Amino acid sequence: MAKQSQATWGGRFSADPAELMLQFSESVSFDRRLAPFDIAGSKAHSAMLAHVGILTARERDAIHEGLDAVLAEIAAGKFIWSIQLEDVHMNIEQALTKRVPAAAKLHTARSRNDQVATDMRLFFKHACTVLSEKILSAQKAILAVAAHDGDVLIPGYTHLQRAQPVFLAHHLFAYLEMLERDRARFAVVADHANWCPLGSGAIAGTTLPIDREFTAKQLGFVDSKGRPRVTQNSMDTVADRDLFIEFANACALFGVHMSRIAEDLIIWSSVEFKFIDLPDTFCTGSSLMPQKKNPDSCELLRGKSARLQGNLYTLFTLSKGLPLTYNRDLQEDKPPVFDSYDQTALCADVLAGTVAGLKIFRKRCAEVVADPALLATDLADYLVARRVPFRDAHHAVGAVVKLAETLKLPLDQLPTAEVKKVHPGYGDDWAVVFDLKRAMAMRRGTGMPGPAQVKKQFARWRKLLG
Ligand code: ARG
Repeated sequence: MAKQSQATWGGRFSADPAELMLQFSESVSFDRRLAPFDIAGSKAHSAMLAHVGILTARERDAIHEGLDAVLAEIAAGKFIWSIQLEDVHMNIEQALTKRVPAAAKLHTARSRNDQVATDMRLFFKHACTVLSEKILSAQKAILAVAAHDGDVLIPGYTHLQRAQPVFLAHHLFAYLEMLERDRARFAVVADHANWCPLGSGAIAGTTLPIDREFTAKQLGFVDSKGRPRVTQNSMDTVADRDLFIEFANACALFGVHMSRIAEDLIIWSSVEFKFIDLPDTFCTGSSLMPQKKNPDSCELLRGKSARLQGNLYTLFTLSKGLPLTYNRDLQEDKPPVFDSYDQTALCADVLAGTVAGLKIFRKRCAEVVADPALLATDLADYLVARRVPFRDAHHAVGAVVKLAETLKLPLDQLPTAEVKKVHPGYGDDWAVVFDLKRAMAMRRGTGMPGPAQVKKQFARWRKLLG
């Protein structure tokens, strides 16, 4: 007796696939999650077949009822998936045909190649919306910290050396910018996904008089004016995996961002810095050292970003050098995409949860940011305002910094007479620059960390994030 799988393509075969081959070639273990999209695609396709007269209205209705029943069975966890039937498409079609004889007509003018392309485009549209919402929640958690403790000043760092003072809010708003670009990227991927492949067939369309635009409309592959969007080349449609790469890229880039945020939090929470305390609920202890509280959620965010990059490179490597059009290699496109989706969703939630539980050590931040050296650049600007060329001013401040080191004094405590000896540009009021409040207020331009700008950005983010 022929194996089940031969029911769909076994006509020209005289031997069943080896058991090992079935295990090797099945994808249903991972593509079954496409079932809701596959069923939506089949409903639209059968509606179109009825629209052009290939199915009767009665056959279409029977197919639709059957598909609903199959979906309900899957949702209830009662559907029996079989690797004999390779993938999600054939599992569903066979189950449907057992219930509804008319389903034998469902695969008319359709191939699994345009079917899987459709399922994945529907998946990407859905996934981009979900991930964008999760990233939005993380942004809201960050904004809440800015609302609560954004007025705290901390040193900003370059080369992980103290550079210049910034409001914590300004630092947090940098994260919001990064994550906002991620959301914009997911919106672009969703837009690129918004073209209907159905009707491309296996490679060269069909001789049957189908209506691709009808199907596209049914599935919501439409532009902002409701006009159908169908892919324009049948060969490209079944061969193209750009979207997979674009999606994985959006995930990987979000991964880079979350990893950098996580790294800041790890550093800030160390005893050496002690700017923040991470929530116990997102940390773990050491099995040996009782005093330890480890920033595991942040470390895992950092670690998982590697995994997201790996998935991206799997897809790049999978696609390169494949001859047009579909090749079975492409079945391997789904595990990295699904993994990127699942991990990105999880990471965005964990990022939000970790940030929501942050405690800011306000006193410690104030102590650290009081370091007058953070305002050495302001001293150079002071000289510039007194007509000293910046290159000379930089040098003149460097000399004062060196003097402070030699005399073992804080920069702002140097005797004015000594400072004035260094460069004639220094006046009696040279130390006014070390007033932190004044220094911040002077940073007025767009994008700068002055209090007026921070206030403006706060209002902007509040509006943007809703
Ligand atoms: N499971 C297959 C995949 O994911 C569906 C397409 C199969 N097409 C084919 N010609 N065998 O790629």
